[in-house]
Amino acid sequence: MIRNNNSLLLQLFSFLLLLFPQIIKSQEKSFSRQPSGQFIFTPHERSDSEPQQVHISLVGKDHMRVSWVTEDKHARSVVEYGTKQGGEYEAKSKGEHTSYNYFMYQSGKIHHVVIGPLKPNTNYFYRCGGLGPEFSFKTPPLNFPIEFAVVGDLGQTEWTASTLKHVNSKDYDVFLLPGDLSYADTQQPLWDSFGRLVEPYASQRPWMVTQGNHEVEILPITEPTGFKAYNSRWPNPHKESGSNSNLYYSFEVSGTHIIMLGSYTDFDDQSEQYTWLVDDLGKVDRKRTPWVVVLLHAPWYNTNEAHQGEGESMRKSMEDLLYEARVDLVFAGHVHAYERFTRVYDNNADPCGPMYVTIGDGGNREGLALSYKKPVSPLSLYREASFGHGRLRIVNETHAHWSWHRNNDSDAFVADDVWIQSLISFKECWNTQQHHLVAHQEL
Ligand SMILES: [Fe+2]
Repeated sequence: MIRNNNSLLLQLFSFLLLLFPQIIKSQEKSFSRQPSGQFIFTPHERSDSEPQQVHISLVGKDHMRVSWVTEDKHARSVVEYGTKQGGEYEAKSKGEHTSYNYFMYQSGKIHHVVIGPLKPNTNYFYRCGGLGPEFSFKTPPLNFPIEFAVVGDLGQTEWTASTLKHVNSKDYDVFLLPGDLSYADTQQPLWDSFGRLVEPYASQRPWMVTQGNHEVEILPITEPTGFKAYNSRWPNPHKESGSNSNLYYSFEVSGTHIIMLGSYTDFDDQSEQYTWLVDDLGKVDRKRTPWVVVLLHAPWYNTNEAHQGEGESMRKSMEDLLYEARVDLVFAGHVHAYERFTRVYDNNADPCGPMYVTIGDGGNREGLALSYKKPVSPLSLYREASFGHGRLRIVNETHAHWSWHRNNDSDAFVADDVWIQSLISFKECWNTQQHHLVAHQEL
């Protein structure tokens, strides 16, 4: 009965997609704005007891959570793993499982198993549930350099596939996603399709995500609280960072403290998220993690006409906290385009503020946000509505390289890039007497 319901829903989606196909025109010769890509449904092609939708995420300093789904409710939540390829596994961990109902949809068995301790910068091979294909991943390095791939508003279209292919064309350590994953938008089988689409990438490198508006999925009466699929399928290491919610958390990797904020849960100064953020920023040790990076979904700074002002109330609530803590970088998504700002605090260029980047151009079905406000704000240093991804390579305690890569270009081409110095490099930003006297360049 459950499978029949799923099958009926899938047939309905396929029918709708046939009725409203999105036309793709070749953009190869003359570069211009790309249209939204055709939706890709990734089918389930393994047996019911074999793992599908395998993805991994960091937990604590030397553990990894392995997550996957089986149709078979009796499949075991166990992961065998080791450094040798070919089924000779040195270790085995048991974990937990969950499932959820959403309207007429019943999810498969969703497994989550934490494995470790793991050695840094090491290739591991693993098998989920005792059967099915062998997967492999590489753990992040213990120290710098480390490279992050940063992609927002991913979805599951031909552009998504193109973005992921570009990301994979050069090695990286950790994938960061500032919200809007599957664009299932209440159609739960599309979460399964998304999991299968990203498996070849998300099973190899840890994917660390925060939520966007497309993860909310509230339905009147039946689903009043939201985030059911997201919380069930993409658990984050929130308990490890003292957070009571899967919607905001932090983690440390290779000298970098990364904070994932929630744009779609409470953030006012009376909220649990605010209290947690104050506490988390207070625990940052710049000797251990010289770099501090924040990800959130709705941008606080944005000169695109799309989603103007949507991040403003969160900015007003939390910007002071990030500024006082000398956060180095803030990545956002939501606006389907790329934009890089200078260091900013309270709408002014400020050498002690974070550098803001909008990277919501991963490839979702809604297409690009083409219109920008004019004249260009002097705070905005580069803006372009094209599908692509970013890479943050932190070289050492003081220097990092940020680059943005368009999907229309060859893998080696960099459309925008900049060297960044960490704020610990600037003594003038740490003199508490001058903390509020830092010269703002009024613009
Ligand atoms: Fe969004």
